[in-house]
Amino acid sequence: MKLWGGRFSKSTDNLVDDFHSSISFDQRLAEQDITGSIAHATMLGEQGIIPKEDADKIVEGLKGILADVKEGKIEWMVDAEDIHMNVETILTQRIGEAGKRLHTGRSRNDQVALDVRMYAKLACQETVAMLEDLLDAILTHAQENLHTIMPGYTHMQKAQPITLAHHMMAYAQMFLRDRTRFQAAYRAADVMPLGSGALAGTTYPLNRERVAELLGFSAISQNSLDGVADRDFLLDYLSAASICMMHLSRFCEELIIWNTNEFRFVEMDDAYATGSSIMPQKKNPDVAELIRGKTGRVYGDLMALLTTMKGLPLAYNKDMQEDKEAFFDARDTLVKGLTVFTAMLRTVTFRKENMERGASGGFTNATDCADYLVKKGVAFRDAHAVVGRLVAHCLNENKALLDLTLDELKQFSSVFEQDVFDDLSMLSCVEKRRIPGAPAPDMVQASIDWTRAQLHD
Ligand code: ARG
Repeated sequence: MKLWGGRFSKSTDNLVDDFHSSISFDQRLAEQDITGSIAHATMLGEQGIIPKEDADKIVEGLKGILADVKEGKIEWMVDAEDIHMNVETILTQRIGEAGKRLHTGRSRNDQVALDVRMYAKLACQETVAMLEDLLDAILTHAQENLHTIMPGYTHMQKAQPITLAHHMMAYAQMFLRDRTRFQAAYRAADVMPLGSGALAGTTYPLNRERVAELLGFSAISQNSLDGVADRDFLLDYLSAASICMMHLSRFCEELIIWNTNEFRFVEMDDAYATGSSIMPQKKNPDVAELIRGKTGRVYGDLMALLTTMKGLPLAYNKDMQEDKEAFFDARDTLVKGLTVFTAMLRTVTFRKENMERGASGGFTNATDCADYLVKKGVAFRDAHAVVGRLVAHCLNENKALLDLTLDELKQFSSVFEQDVFDDLSMLSCVEKRRIPGAPAPDMVQASIDWTRAQLHD
């Protein structure tokens, strides 16, 4: 018979057991469920709500089950529905009558909310640690490439020269923001819901603060309906995960482009690329493509849970059981994505010569040429027009600005002097951009230092 079977005269149809049983996926919550129950039973004993001896037996029994779970010795029962009833059933099989007192003053509704919150807290902490590892990889590349010139793009057209360090540090800012988002998701999850009962609290004098303390929660939930009906903390995690995957995906997209024959800005390490079954010459950036592809999955998980929640009246509804697969899938996808991406990034080789050569083509110093004229007293709008004509002339002649002689330049504006050639070199274009946030090497160094300080905060 089911733990809740008292008022039923028939057993559940097999189809229903199969349909609503969640043990196949919520067994991942075993450790959280058992740890939560140990805290609940301890508090019940301390409050005199159940006999102290029974509380002790329950705690001992649960510890034994937890040890067996860790050794993979437990066979979960599909007809016991979910992790909560599986654990309770096994406990009562093992310790007898005392086991039946565990669920005093508790409902599976507040129990599952607790378990998922505990798991979410771990997931946030783990993600923060992984982001810090990724940031370290990015900062390492940045530090080594303060002077590596590369073209910066807008509209995927060469725009102005920057450095590889500057480009890397843009990603550092994105992942630093992701870290803040996961820290916020952690705080959202860090609220202890036990005591909410099924929806309306309980008549027993539970010590909720004590349970929060035993389980390392910083606060208790403030409303019993919300305590069982809230999954915002998972949506916070899924939103943060979606944005983080979007950042990974953009980075992957750039690595894929940089890895093309046309660009050749990077060489993927052989350990992070794959070949073709038919084309012997191929070395494909599959890892980066797959991370880009899996980003869609994580967005799907976020959309799935948002959609599940949107029509739910208070308080608990069984629809909410759907939260777990979406959350676990997103968590697994993100963890794998971050792990493999960081490893791949650490092993990438940058083809600095190609980057520098790429920067010199495409008139990336045209803005600097206009700025040079401004420095010599020409109004910016006029300078823009002069350089526009210069570029058109160069395109006709198949030349770069730096290929022109001073005489040629003077035909477009009399203020050009010999010093223009220094001003238009790629290095000087970068070095002249010396305001905070700009690509000059000492500015990027300041940004690296600032970012490292944030990490150690
Ligand atoms: N397996 C359920 C879930 O994941 C646990 C809560 C069930 N509560 C209930 N009243 N059926 O949400």
